[in-house]
Amino acid sequence: MIQLDNIVKHYSGAQGPVEALSGIDLGIKPGEIFGIIGRSGAGKSTLIRCINLLERPTGGRVRVAGRELTALDKTELRTARQEIGMIFQHFNLLSSRTVFANVALPLEVAGLARADIETRIAPLLDLVGLSEHRERYPTQLSGGQKQRVGIARALASHPKVLLCDEATSALDPETTRSILALLKDINQRLGLTIVVITHEMQVIKALCDRVAVLDSGRIVEQGEVFSVFTQPEHPVTRTMIRDVLGQDIPPGLLERLSQSHLARGGRLFRFSLTSEETDAPLISQLSRNYHLDINILHGQIDEIQGRPYGSFLVLVEGAAERQEAAWTWARQNGIRVERADVH
Ligand SMILES: Nc1ncnc2c1ncn2[C@@H]1O[C@H](COP(=O)(O)OP(=O)(O)OP(=O)(O)O)[C@@H](O)[C@H]1O
Ligand SMILES: [Mg+2]
Repeated sequence: MIQLDNIVKHYSGAQGPVEALSGIDLGIKPGEIFGIIGRSGAGKSTLIRCINLLERPTGGRVRVAGRELTALDKTELRTARQEIGMIFQHFNLLSSRTVFANVALPLEVAGLARADIETRIAPLLDLVGLSEHRERYPTQLSGGQKQRVGIARALASHPKVLLCDEATSALDPETTRSILALLKDINQRLGLTIVVITHEMQVIKALCDRVAVLDSGRIVEQGEVFSVFTQPEHPVTRTMIRDVLGQDIPPGLLERLSQSHLARGGRLFRFSLTSEETDAPLISQLSRNYHLDINILHGQIDEIQGRPYGSFLVLVEGAAERQEAAWTWARQNGIRVERADVH
C-alpha cells in the first residue's frame, strides 16, 4: 500500500544543512497498522509528512495505493491526497467551525453537494461517537473528543491510508486508550491501512502489527511487534522497551547488591519467555537441576498482540560453571537470558 524507496530529506538549518532522513526504505501492507517509533528528533514527523508529500523528500520515491506521488504534478497530487487522511497531535481543528463543519471541510473543498456531505458525515460522526455533539465548537470539546473530530475529518474523503502523527501524545492515559481502541476498530471495520508515529512504546504495543524503529534518520530495526518486543536487537529499541516493561534496576538497589550478593559471585539476569514457556515451572527447574539460588526481584506477565510474554529480573547465586550450564539449557529451551548487571 505504501512503498518508500531511499527517501532522503535535508533541511537548511541555522547551523547549516540538517539531514533529517538518510535513505529510508519501507514497505507497508494493505490493512496493517504500522508503527514508527523513535526518540525526539529522530525524524518521525518528517518521515510521515513525506508519505503524503506535505514535506517533499530531497531524494527518493514515494508510492501510495499504486501511485508514485513523487512523480505527480500539483493537481494530480491534490487528487491523490484524497486517498490519504491524516490526524495530528494538536488536532488542527478550525475553532470557528462546528464539529460537523470541521468534518465537512475536506468534502466542501472537493466540491461535494450539501446533501451528499450530509449523508456522508452522519455515519462518520456515529462511528467516532460524536453524533450528539455535531453542533458544538472545538472549545466546547475535551481533547479526546477533538481527536475524534480529527479522525472523522480524516475519514471523510474515504481514504485508503490514515497517517497519525503523535495522535495521542496530548491525551491522558484513559483517553489515549479510547482513541487507540477507536483506531483499531476503524482499521478492522474499514480495512484502512494505518501508519502511527509515536515516541511511546505503549502505543505501539497496544495498536500496531509491525513496527520500525527510527534513529537519527535511519531505520535501525523493524519487524512484527511481538518479535521486536521480545527480541529487540538495537540498543535504542532495548532502552525504549525497558521503559515500558519497567525492567530497569533502581540505582539504589544495584548499589546495595553490588556490595553484597554481587560481590560474592551472584549475578543479575533478565529472563524473557514467550507463550509456550510461560506455563512451565522454569525457575524451579533451573534451581533444582543446577543447584542455584534464584531470587526474583521483578516479574511481569504481559500480552502483546494477544500472545503472553513474561519477563523476570533475577538474582542468581551458585557456582559459575553451573550457571553457565543452566543458561545453555534455558537458551536451548527458547528462553532469552541476558546479564543485567553488566552493560
Ligand atoms: N523545517 C525544518 N527546518 C530545519 N530543520 C528541521 C525542520 N523540521 C525538522 N527539522 C530537523 O530535522 C530533524 C528531525 O525532525 P522531526 O521533527 O522529523 O523529528 P521527530 O522525530 O518528529 O521529533 P519529535 O519527537 O520531537 O516530534 C530534527 O533534527 C529537526 O531539528
Ligand atoms: Mg514529531
